[in-house]
Amino acid sequence: MTALRKFIEGLPKTELHLHIEGSLEPELMFALAKRNNISLPFKTIEDVRAAYQFSELQDFLDIYYQGMGVLQTEQDFYDLTMAYLNKVHSQNVMHVEIFFDPQGHTERGISMDTVISGITRALEKGQRELGISYKLIMCFLRHLSEDAAMETLEQALPFKDKLCGVGLDSSELGHPPSKFKNVFARAKEEGLYLVAHAGEEGPPAYVYEALDVLKIDRLDHGNRSLEDADLTARLAKSQIALTVCPLSNYKLAGVKDMSKHPLGEMLSKNLNATINSDDPAYFGGYMNENYLAVTEALDLGMDEVITLARNGVAATFCTTAEKSAMMQKLDDYLDQWT
Ligand code: ADE
Ligand code: ZN
Repeated sequence: MTALRKFIEGLPKTELHLHIEGSLEPELMFALAKRNNISLPFKTIEDVRAAYQFSELQDFLDIYYQGMGVLQTEQDFYDLTMAYLNKVHSQNVMHVEIFFDPQGHTERGISMDTVISGITRALEKGQRELGISYKLIMCFLRHLSEDAAMETLEQALPFKDKLCGVGLDSSELGHPPSKFKNVFARAKEEGLYLVAHAGEEGPPAYVYEALDVLKIDRLDHGNRSLEDADLTARLAKSQIALTVCPLSNYKLAGVKDMSKHPLGEMLSKNLNATINSDDPAYFGGYMNENYLAVTEALDLGMDEVITLARNGVAATFCTTAEKSAMMQKLDDYLDQWT
């Protein structure tokens, strides 16, 4: 395992499912709370970490929305994003496609401009100085109304040049993708890519809706698709990419035992799965830890790890030339490894 661990650590990787607010480490949460004169319901960093015990998605979301309350200024969003980029740079991540949740901020009186400016200022610096290329995806909170999502899209359109796509996240059960049919159609008209969380806690029917009603370009999670043989066959045939988040599934109790993680079945059924970290500050690991967790638990070999990394390049929203350049970096790494 030690050799495979080293191989994973050095492997050039892409991250396609990361909520930037979910990369807020307790240390930065305390620092920002102090800077902004906000009182937290925790005394120490250990208290914060101790509170990160979740038995389902909603337990996590409650604490996640509370945590993001410390983000107030453009500099806060910049610092948050820069901390994430520095971390993944140390893990040999070469490209990121990150989510943000504007409604978690605009609802608190923070402007769209503040949020997008801070995040993109850091992403630009990351590209220049760390060599990490990026895309930014704006998510709608599905527990809120479609009207609220539409208003959010309108607020974001002046910044459209900074956005690559839109997504759908937050509490899945009771909020099917079809609720957001019109706003996704509008985003598509604007030339944005479409992704949605589906099949994380929700049933296969939600994945069908994400595909057929929202017409997504990439599926976030998708785990419960495997309960439906026709859907599984369709995902394999279409080769739509799934952004799988192993430690997230484990911490949110969708997967009780990592050795039973559905990634094994996804790979054996030829689904186009990728590895991602979701909310690394809350779930105990960034990219390397996620790769390592499934590699160990599912006893994956080097070939499967390489397949996952290649899938992660092919599934980006980059141009063909950009994807070729990333595949080349992967090949160069493989050449010097053997
Ligand atoms: N928002 C942040 N992380 C999420 C997740 N794993 N599922 C749904 N919404 C989220
Ligand atoms: Zn997510």
